[in-house]
Amino acid sequence: MITKPKGTYDILPEESLKWAKLENVFRRVCAICNYEEIRTPIFEQYETFHRDNKDSSDMVNKETYDFIDRGERKMTLRPEGTAGCVRAYVENKLYVNNKVTKLFYYGPMFRYERPQKGRYRQFYQFGLEAYGPKSPYLDVDIISTAIMLFKAIGLKNLRVRINSLGDKESRDNYRDVLVKYFTENIDSLCADCKDRLTKNPLRILDCKVDKNNDVLLNAPQIGKYLNNQSKEHFNKVLALLDELNIEYVVDPHLVRGLDYYSDTVFEVEYISDALGNQNVICAGGRYNDLVKDLGGPDIPGVGLAFGMDRILLALANEGINIVNPKSLHYFLITLGEEAKEAGEKIIYNSRLKGFKCDMSYQNASLKAQFKEADYNNAMFTLILGEDELTNKKINVKNNHTKEQVSIEIDKINEYLLGEINKCQNCGGKCHEKSTN
Ligand code: HAM
Repeated sequence: MITKPKGTYDILPEESLKWAKLENVFRRVCAICNYEEIRTPIFEQYETFHRDNKDSSDMVNKETYDFIDRGERKMTLRPEGTAGCVRAYVENKLYVNNKVTKLFYYGPMFRYERPQKGRYRQFYQFGLEAYGPKSPYLDVDIISTAIMLFKAIGLKNLRVRINSLGDKESRDNYRDVLVKYFTENIDSLCADCKDRLTKNPLRILDCKVDKNNDVLLNAPQIGKYLNNQSKEHFNKVLALLDELNIEYVVDPHLVRGLDYYSDTVFEVEYISDALGNQNVICAGGRYNDLVKDLGGPDIPGVGLAFGMDRILLALANEGINIVNPKSLHYFLITLGEEAKEAGEKIIYNSRLKGFKCDMSYQNASLKAQFKEADYNNAMFTLILGEDELTNKKINVKNNHTKEQVSIEIDKINEYLLGEINKCQNCGGKCHEKSTN
C-alpha cells in the first residue's frame, strides 16, 4: 500500500468542514478589517527565500524543499508566505498608488522539520501582510486583527508575547554587545549556538536547547540598546495595544525564527500542554527591508501568519466545535426501480432550489435506507413507493416532530420550505443548521 509522505496528513470530510468554516471566519474578519486576498504560487524561484545567504535561520537553510525543475531551474516549495507575497507585491508594482496595501493569503507551506503533534512538513498558514509607512498603527492593525480572529472563533487561553528588535542601528549596537557577552561565555553554549555566534548572535536567544541556560537567561536585553526612534516606535505600539485593552507580555528574549524582522516582533501562544513545544499558533512582526531586498522600493512591511493546523488542535482541545453536525434537509427512500428513477428527478429539482438532499444508491431494504437517513441526520425522510407514484404523491416524515404527511410530488419543495421556516423544534434554526 502506498502511504502519505511523512509529516503530512489527510483531512477527511468531517475535518474538512472545520477547515472550511475556520477559513470562512478568517475571510470574514479580513473583509471587516480591509485585507484583500492574494494568491501566489506554491513554489517560487529558489532566490525568493534564499537571499544571498542573508538569512541564517534553520528554516531557510535546513528545512526548505528545493528542487531543480525539468528546465534546470532551481525552485523552492514555499516554507512560508511572506517572501512570496513580497515578491508578488514588487513584481506587480502594487505600491504604485502610494497607498497602504493590506493583503491576506491562505494555503499550504512546506518545511522539512522533524514531525510531531502540531509540527508537520506540509502545514497551512493564513497570513496577513501590510505594506506602507513604518507606522506603529499598522503594527497594531495587524495584531488587533489577529485578536479579532481569535475572538471570532472563541479561542481563549492565549498569551501575546511581544518584543522589539529595533532598527538596523539598534540591532548592530546590540549585536556587538551580545557577541562580546557570548564570546566570554562560549563554553556554556551548545554547538549550534557557537555557530550562531558568528552568523547571527541574536538567534542564540531563541535556542530551544539552551533556553534554560543561565548564560541565556542573564544575557543583555535589547531594550537597553534601542535607539530613540526604535524605542519610540515600540512604546507607541504598546500604548496603542493598551488603548485597545489587548493584553500582552513584553518578552526581551523573543527574536523569532526568520531573519527578515526589524522593530516589532510577536507571537501568540496557546497556553496548554496539549501542543507541547508547538504552542505558538500565530506569529509575525515588522520587516522594514524585505521589499527593498527583493528588488522593490524602500517600503516597510508588517504581518503575521496563523498556524491553522495548530489552531484546529487548540479548538479541539478546548472542546470548541465551530461547525454544525453533518445534516441534510431530506433523505429520499425509494422502493423499486421506477420510484428510484422518479426520485432522481425529485432530488435534482430540489437541489436546483438549494435543498441539501440525497437518496440511497444501493438496492437496500427499507430498514437499511431508514438507517442511511439517520446517518445523514436528515430533517425529513421522504418515502416513494409504487402507490405513491401512482397517486403522484410522496410520504414525508418530519424527523423532529415525527409527523407524517402525504404531499403532491410537484409541491414538495414548496412544502418543505414552509415546514423548515416554521419549525419550532429547534427555534426556527433548522434551515441554518442544515446549511453549514
Ligand atoms: P513562522 O513563525 O515561521 O512565521 O510561522 C507562523 C506560524 O505557522 C507558526 O506560529 C505556527 O503556528 C505555524 N507553523 C510553522 N511551522 C509549522 C509546522 N511545521 N507545522 C505546523 N505549523 C507550523 C512565518 O512563517 C512568517 N512568514 C510570519 C509572518 C508573516 N511574519 C510577517 N508576516
